[in-house]
Amino acid sequence: MCGIIGFTGTGDARGIILDGLKRLEYRGYDSAGIAIQRNNEINMVKAQGKVDNLVNLAVANDKLIGTCGIGHTRWATHGIPNDINAHPHMSEDGKFAIVHNGIIENQAEIKEKLLKKGMTFKSETDTEVMVQLLSFNYNGDIKKAIMKTVSEVTGSYGIGVLCTDNPGVIYAAKVASPLIIGIGVGENYFGSDITAFINHTKNVIDLDDNELAEIHKDKVIIYDYKGEEIKKEIRKVTWDIAAAEKSGYEHFMIKEIMEQPAAIKATIEPRIKNGKIDFDELNLDILKYNRVLITACGSAYYAGCVGKLVIEKLARLHVSMDVASELRYSDPMIDEETLVIVVSQSGETADTIAAIKEAKSKGATVLAIVNVVGSTIAKLSDYVIYTWAGPEIAVATTKGYTTQVAVFYMFAVWAAKKLNKIDDKQLEEYTNIIKHLPERAQRALDLNAKVKTLADKYYHNKSIFFIGRYFDYAVCLEGSLKLKEISYIHSEAYAAGELKHGTIALIDEGRLVVAACCYEPLLDKIISNIQQVKARGAEVLALAMEDNKKIFKEADDVLLVPKTNELFMSLVEIIPLQLFAYYVAKNNKCDIDKPKNLAKSVTVE
Ligand code: G6P
Repeated sequence: MCGIIGFTGTGDARGIILDGLKRLEYRGYDSAGIAIQRNNEINMVKAQGKVDNLVNLAVANDKLIGTCGIGHTRWATHGIPNDINAHPHMSEDGKFAIVHNGIIENQAEIKEKLLKKGMTFKSETDTEVMVQLLSFNYNGDIKKAIMKTVSEVTGSYGIGVLCTDNPGVIYAAKVASPLIIGIGVGENYFGSDITAFINHTKNVIDLDDNELAEIHKDKVIIYDYKGEEIKKEIRKVTWDIAAAEKSGYEHFMIKEIMEQPAAIKATIEPRIKNGKIDFDELNLDILKYNRVLITACGSAYYAGCVGKLVIEKLARLHVSMDVASELRYSDPMIDEETLVIVVSQSGETADTIAAIKEAKSKGATVLAIVNVVGSTIAKLSDYVIYTWAGPEIAVATTKGYTTQVAVFYMFAVWAAKKLNKIDDKQLEEYTNIIKHLPERAQRALDLNAKVKTLADKYYHNKSIFFIGRYFDYAVCLEGSLKLKEISYIHSEAYAAGELKHGTIALIDEGRLVVAACCYEPLLDKIISNIQQVKARGAEVLALAMEDNKKIFKEADDVLLVPKTNELFMSLVEIIPLQLFAYYVAKNNKCDIDKPKNLAKSVTVE
């Protein structure tokens, strides 16, 4: 969702900020803007649509030459996406410019109060209300004005502020919306995430809630909201620039699909000690819990669907599931004996954060499986397992999902041993299978040169069904989501046995059904389902283990999956479906890395 960058130094702020905005495009947005401070005035340019529209306007505008400024990519919440509603927003007196992520919930009351004081508004946004309030509260002390302003708003915000009275200084503050400060040499930054400025510095300070940063080119001072200075640690980010760039690939998505073997290895390897999965670093006493509840959104939820099956199968712990946006309002049956596992690539998803708060209010323990170090979800949770997938830029997750599944496998095996459901020999056996998953994932990539040809054959379909049973069904959920996210083709995943209870009415001549047939104990069952849909004219693309000879007789085409132990195959099985979605979207000329209406990190409800 919305992206923020701020810069102060001696270099070309316009160029640095526009470049940062391009790097933030992946988050999803519909308009963009930049404000530069120079000679005690602030000038800004905003544009609807792509950052390139903004770049064209900004480079032609000499008033934007300067060494200090802020920029924003906006994903509309209050007011339609247009130039006026785009950020930055300026106060009527021209003294302040602000960029803002989040939602100000009491903006209507504040606006009414300011209107009565004679202030006027150009846009429909809550952000303009905030900058007008800031100007209203200003008495010559910018820090005090920001603190007063944030004390009067409710909701969430990450803000970046320029003030004409303080040239060369950028201010940042946050509640429940991420902001990171980048520490350079003779120049400093802030950003909604590290990708905004990773090409300039990897030294960062994580701004926490209720903190205000005063950022000069050669120093950064952090205050709490009482105005007391606080010392913060500088953290070095381990991601490198190449990880946030396409490195010769046409899209981030295909690059990230290809990176999966390495990402899975980085997730698994540090947790294997002496040939055994070891999560003792967590210090989590699994014996304390009589049930597990998994909650998340989107693909992270579907990774949880695999997690539920493998935890129940191996550790024999009862696992329930709920999507975070439902859990937060459903008065869930959880207590001190419940371990709530939340899953999130970004660590910033608003619904997931709300679910954590709900779970904690009921006394549950929260374990987070997260990719982004220092993210809000990591900070709010009692225990954290990082997925170490590196930065994921494409909106549609791939390596984020598979590394989450890898963590669930390891957690299930570890918990099973702790709960005495498996013995030492099984622990070693399962560990060995998990250890070799990166090679299996690589083989899945190697085996699938054929996927492109199949995508060429099937990309014109208007509606595609995915069917599978048990672990195969869990994979279908993610495979179907991947396809609809990036190709805009309608698709649905069904538990194969459910077809006959309604959906089979939609199966007709030429309809494509993707049938996942990798879980061999249920092979005959899924073959019956294939025959049922074929009898109604469907074309069947099967997903099957590479040694499955039977399936070639049943299906029109087959996507091959490297032979993997059936409890741990979902991680490998999804890879051909990711590739299929990618090539179908490519044939349909879709904007693969930035699908319409979607955002990488959904920081609003
Ligand atoms: C958005 C993204 C999805 C993602 C979901 C959860 O909807 O478009 O790809 O799966 O958020 O994101 P998280 O960062 O919490 O895993």
